[in-house]
Amino acid sequence: MEKKQQLYEGKAKKVFATDKSECFIIEYKDDATAGNGAKRGSIAGKGEINNRVSNHLMQLLEKQGVPTHYVKELSATETAVKVVKIVPLEVIVRNIAAGSLAKRLGLEEGTPLKKTVLEYCYKDDALGDPLVNEYHIAAMGWASEADLKVIAGYSFKINETLSAYLKDAGIQLIDFKLEFGKTPAGEIILADEISPDTCRFWDIKTKEKLDKDRFRRDLGGVEDAYREVLKRLLGE
Ligand code: TMP
Repeated sequence: MEKKQQLYEGKAKKVFATDKSECFIIEYKDDATAGNGAKRGSIAGKGEINNRVSNHLMQLLEKQGVPTHYVKELSATETAVKVVKIVPLEVIVRNIAAGSLAKRLGLEEGTPLKKTVLEYCYKDDALGDPLVNEYHIAAMGWASEADLKVIAGYSFKINETLSAYLKDAGIQLIDFKLEFGKTPAGEIILADEISPDTCRFWDIKTKEKLDKDRFRRDLGGVEDAYREVLKRLLGE
């Protein structure tokens, strides 16, 4: 597959056209941002780790019947993915209160939730990705009710699959963010990435944070945490 012109550069990834109309190439970067770009830095090896971890988890999800954009890993930091139009929503799945939910509801981080919580944010950096609900999504036409039903169903299935898989690696899945896209044929599939950038991973025993919160909160040991996740999931 031939890499053609760059189509988009985001905070953590670049997207390129290819000689195949049905594929893009994603290139993962070491760049890290937090607080909607307020904090900037770099995490050595992050691009490679996120590429490998995300591809590994997407292949697992495919086997469990969740369609994803994954096509082929091309290099340490590059992956061929299916062309989609991204649904402009961040879908957040929460098992344990942490981050913005803990803050919003005045809960101590680590408080178990009686039921898995699904949240949607409208993807708009200028607005700070505001929290929205099903009514906003329908009113604004960001996704049809049928598509949102599919997205919610996949999100819960992904949560069940990943929670069980990560548990075996000694990792508790606290919460995570997903993005979905629509193929030219109209199929909703999982897109973007699943990595320590987009999930909260806690060591099951020690509750040590093995994710981007180490960067967001200046906890130190950022690279080691990302490496630990790679090691536990891929044995590398
Ligand atoms: P939050 O508690 O800050 O709302 O984050 C919830 C989860 O979503 C957490 O695992 C981090 C992830 N996330 C992203 O991947 N990108 C984002 O822009 C935000 C706000 C959260």
